[in-house]
Amino acid sequence: MQAIHDLVRDVPDFPTPGVLFKDITPLLADAAAFAQCIDALCEPWRGAPVGAVCGIESRGFIFGAAMARALGAGFVALRKKGKLPPPVHGVDYGLEYGRDRLEIGQQTLAPGERVIVVDDVLATGGTLEAGRQLVERLGATVIGAGVVIELDALGGRSRWTGTAPLHALVRY
Ligand code: PRP
Ligand code: MG
Repeated sequence: MQAIHDLVRDVPDFPTPGVLFKDITPLLADAAAFAQCIDALCEPWRGAPVGAVCGIESRGFIFGAAMARALGAGFVALRKKGKLPPPVHGVDYGLEYGRDRLEIGQQTLAPGERVIVVDDVLATGGTLEAGRQLVERLGATVIGAGVVIELDALGGRSRWTGTAPLHALVRY
């Protein structure tokens, strides 16, 4: 995990003053580290039946799509407001810097389908929890969640109300 840790760049005051942004682009550009990252995100689910990986727009798409391929699962995009064609379900949530709305296509998951929710960063936890709620709105089962980075100081893990495990690769 050290390679992953070392390839995340700290950018102070981005996108707004006071926010310490975690830039994952060096990690994505490094073939070995990106492969290691996807392998590690998939590791808890090897051998378990997984119907779909739900990636959260936008950076969650990168990791979620690669995981879906590796696990032989489908990929479902949880998108920001207004990006998906109707019919959709939506959940509003608070962010470290603002508010947003996440949506899911109503016909993308079957009731009882086993789903993993994936994002790049767990900060205050609102985004991942909104993703969990959307999946459950469709009657699918969240068997767990994965993030590359967990920012301990922001306490996002406490927002995750599911009993399913939440795995983080590196913590700051
Ligand atoms: C960032 C990050 C996570 C979310 C974490 O996404 O990629 O999705 O914030 O924050 P939270 O735990 O406090 O909810 P952002 O909404 O900035 O959008 P992006 O992925 O499209 O850059
Ligand atoms: Mg995001």
